[in-house]
Amino acid sequence: MTDQIAIIGFGNIAKAIITPLLDKKLINPENVYCVVNSEKSYQNINKHYKHSINIYKSSSKASKIIWDCPIKLLSVKPQHLKDIVEVENIKINNKLLVSILAGVSIDRLTQKFPDHKCVRVVTNIPITVGNGLTGIAWGGDLNQDQKEFTKKLFENTSRIYEFTEDYLDIFLALTSSGPAIIALIIEALSDGGLSGGLPKKLSEELVMEMILGTITLIKQNKLTTSELKNLVTSPGGTTISALRVLEKKSIRSALIESIVSASNRSKEFR
Ligand SMILES: NC(=O)c1ccc[n+]([C@@H]2O[C@H](COP(=O)([O-])OP(=O)(O)OC[C@H]3O[C@@H](n4cnc5c(N)ncnc54)[C@H](OP(=O)(O)O)[C@@H]3O)[C@@H](O)[C@H]2O)c1
Repeated sequence: MTDQIAIIGFGNIAKAIITPLLDKKLINPENVYCVVNSEKSYQNINKHYKHSINIYKSSSKASKIIWDCPIKLLSVKPQHLKDIVEVENIKINNKLLVSILAGVSIDRLTQKFPDHKCVRVVTNIPITVGNGLTGIAWGGDLNQDQKEFTKKLFENTSRIYEFTEDYLDIFLALTSSGPAIIALIIEALSDGGLSGGLPKKLSEELVMEMILGTITLIKQNKLTTSELKNLVTSPGGTTISALRVLEKKSIRSALIESIVSASNRSKEFR
């Protein structure tokens, strides 16, 4: 990965993507050109970031240098997209812009950055611990090198899935909204433990270890979820009693609808 890369918005997710590549020396810090908005972030990165990358404030003239990089990672919040103004550069051919903005379509990106070939990527928060999931939808006309480079950006910290763009909204709902849904489930189950008299911290620990153990069991033994459910549900026992309550409260329908709703919301952002 020798090309110069510009990072437009060097926040949590961009750092999670780029830092491991710098750590592993897959990118040279001299080739990384980042731009942030506030003085605070600029100073923070300048003083405390562990790699000596090039860092600029968006209001500075010097920041225009990012438009000389053939590859850009766009990682501002969607509401700040309007503040990014493309500078055309006739000296460089085949410019690539990889966007991780939630819900912003390839069409919209291409209209905003007509000098670039655009790729839309959806990744999720576990990418910050190297355990992410990344969905990629290619815009038209990308060459093989550009596709390979894009995949290299994410494959260190996440599993990659390639889709047509239509599937990115549902991918986002499952994988990006999913962690919040799981956190809510963990919190609620822990409150169940709390109601039974367990201390909060212990209750939460038990729930998380139980979830990890359950997933390991399903994966290692190649069980279906129904097989796992049958394995622990004995006639007239405690588990069927718990499941009955959940079915009465329509938990399946609530979870299905939560994913459909997140996907529909993502479509509205386009
Ligand atoms: N958080 C998630 O779970 C998640 C997961 C997947 C994808 N995403 C997507 O990733 C993107 C970034 O999210 P994040 O959580 O990393 O946000 P973040 O930590 O707030 O980072 C946003 C970055 O953009 C910078 N910025 C704002 N305005 C700018 C401008 N005009 N020019 C250049 N830089 C500017 C900010 O600088 P300052 O700090 O100086 O304001 C900051 O460095 C979002 O579009 C989001 O949809 C997020």
